Amino acid sequence: METGSKRPRIRLGMVGGGQDAFIGGVHRMAARLDDEFELVAGALSSSPERALGSGQALGLPSDRIYTDYETMARSENARPDGIDAVAIVTPNHMHFKVAETFLNLGFHVICDKPMTLSLTEAQRLHDMVSRSSRVFVLTHNYSGYPMVRQAREMVQSGAIGDVRVVQAEYPQGWLSSRQDSKQAEWRSDPARAGAGGSIGDIGTHAYHLAQFVTGLTAEELTADLATFVPGRQLDDNAHILLRYKGGARGMIWSSQVAIGKENALRLRVFGSRGGLEWSQEEPNILWVHDLGASTRKITRGSPEAGEAASRVTRIPAGHPEGYLEGFATIYREAAELIRAADGDSVSDPAAMAPDSADGLAGLQFIDACVRSNLQGSSWVRI
Ligand SMILES: NC(=O)c1ccc[n+]([C@@H]2O[C@H](COP(=O)([O-])OP(=O)(O)OC[C@H]3O[C@@H](n4cnc5c(N)ncnc54)[C@H](O)[C@@H]3O)[C@@H](O)[C@H]2O)c1
Repeated sequence: METGSKRPRIRLGMVGGGQDAFIGGVHRMAARLDDEFELVAGALSSSPERALGSGQALGLPSDRIYTDYETMARSENARPDGIDAVAIVTPNHMHFKVAETFLNLGFHVICDKPMTLSLTEAQRLHDMVSRSSRVFVLTHNYSGYPMVRQAREMVQSGAIGDVRVVQAEYPQGWLSSRQDSKQAEWRSDPARAGAGGSIGDIGTHAYHLAQFVTGLTAEELTADLATFVPGRQLDDNAHILLRYKGGARGMIWSSQVAIGKENALRLRVFGSRGGLEWSQEEPNILWVHDLGASTRKITRGSPEAGEAASRVTRIPAGHPEGYLEGFATIYREAAELIRAADGDSVSDPAAMAPDSADGLAGLQFIDACVRSNLQGSSWVRI
């Protein structure tokens, strides 16, 4: 039951995420977890019939189920109770057009990664967001996990000394052979996925996570991209070496042909005084190596967890939190940013949801990987 003091929920629209889609449903759950958002409108599918069926299945009002996103943007803009923000959960080639349309009408945008199809689009979108007063949040959701926040806080406080080595990997096995699913289909089509296969789909997550935790900026890279499955047009495996500003060295492995691997995102960071290790499939544990001491672990919700982790922890230690909660943290922080932008609250400096600068960095990473690979895996500026 609503209490008198509860702030009104942020009215959310969604583009993409219809029946049989993957990430739209995750966004809807994440948006609801902290009760900050309410889905009130949607253009949920590229197929009009499916858009209608999906909206009905979600219980949206019939006059707010749209069969195309442009009509949705115009109609919602004309309503006194129109949406405040839109979530973009289509394949990559639609992100720019949809974001541009809604930003131009003054809506806040929450968009999935990679931010756009191309680097040119990413630069334009980042410029557009920088000039606007609207919030743009990119759902690099792995930065929302408590133990990732813990790792970032420990690196920032100097707990492992100067960062020397950053190892990030994101292996999956689900594209090890030809696949007919809709998710596989657009991901291997350059016109809808962009120039990156595994590097765009999951390499950008690893690249963002490494930068998020260490605070380092990568300046140069060399990439060896491979396509193992016959007929596939984009990379399905990549090995990338990185040189960070300040001298640290890094490595990223993204693969979708690593049979047996599910979503084995892992980050290891080694500094002059210690190291940290985190794995997405055991997300409630951060392994800590201190120079000259035995390895120890910090668990989510335990007394050793610091302020940054505690702020985004919802339930006691030992009850696992995972993918949905991490995603929900990005939504909660998006809500804080939106309320601040709309003058409903003051901005929380601890909110650190990824933004269009992170999106631009992701497209710069993809572009540099492709350039390097075309030049015989030579070192290139990012
Ligand atoms: N953050 C993550 O962990 C994560 C995980 C998976 C996917 N993603 C990203 O989310 C996006 C969607 O991926 P997915 O796996 O859910 O794809 P999907 O193919 O499962 O779903 C895409 C949906 O978009 C709809 N769509 C396409 N064009 C549209 C249009 N013009 N108007 C309205 N709807 C349209 C499709 O009909 C479908 O419902 C991609 O950008 C992907 O990279 C992110």
